[in-house]
Amino acid sequence: MTVLVVATSNPGKLREMQSYLTDSDWKLQLKPPELEIEETGDTFTANACLKASEVARATGEWTIADDSGLQVDALKGAPGIYSARYGKNDEERIERLLRELGSERNRDAQFVCAIAIASPNGEISLQVEGICQGTILQSPRGTNGFGYDPIFYLPEQQLTFAEMKPEIKRLCSHRGKAFASLLPKLSKLA
Ligand code: IMP
Repeated sequence: MTVLVVATSNPGKLREMQSYLTDSDWKLQLKPPELEIEETGDTFTANACLKASEVARATGEWTIADDSGLQVDALKGAPGIYSARYGKNDEERIERLLRELGSERNRDAQFVCAIAIASPNGEISLQVEGICQGTILQSPRGTNGFGYDPIFYLPEQQLTFAEMKPEIKRLCSHRGKAFASLLPKLSKLA
């Protein structure tokens, strides 16, 4: 089994990646906690590549990194790469987004997830992106998930991400789609 360092110190993210990569030959490992990478890119892909590359160079191991967030059309793509920093906690981030959107009628939005894999010398070997289209509700619905899940509604499922069973969200989410395109390529890598 080849080691694949996950460029995060968050064990939850490691577990989530593990669940997408169950049948693969990679052994996932958290990055060393002292290694902090600043997300200075101006796109999701740039940030994923930056994190993967720097952690691979520092550890000398294959590395996977992701960056994700919510883009709201009527807010010109905000909060976008600033999704995690849009407020102190999930509740404040949702409140701010709903306040800024106000009574706007165009509530189209998409979640985006970029994933990059760097080889041990820091070169990017793979990059993929998954997108999930939906709309922003006027008020939160559902208690599952995290982040903006309670206000992100999928018309075809007639549910918010927070109302979906985790296995359904895994199938239709931006992250699920990104991993679905990554997996066949990953098996040919090392
Ligand atoms: P990341 O961990 O740097 O990729 O931060 C992504 C941020 O975007 C999270 O903190 C959430 O606020 C938001 N986000 C990304 N994916 C999701 C999702 O599936 N549901 C809800 N919020 C998400």
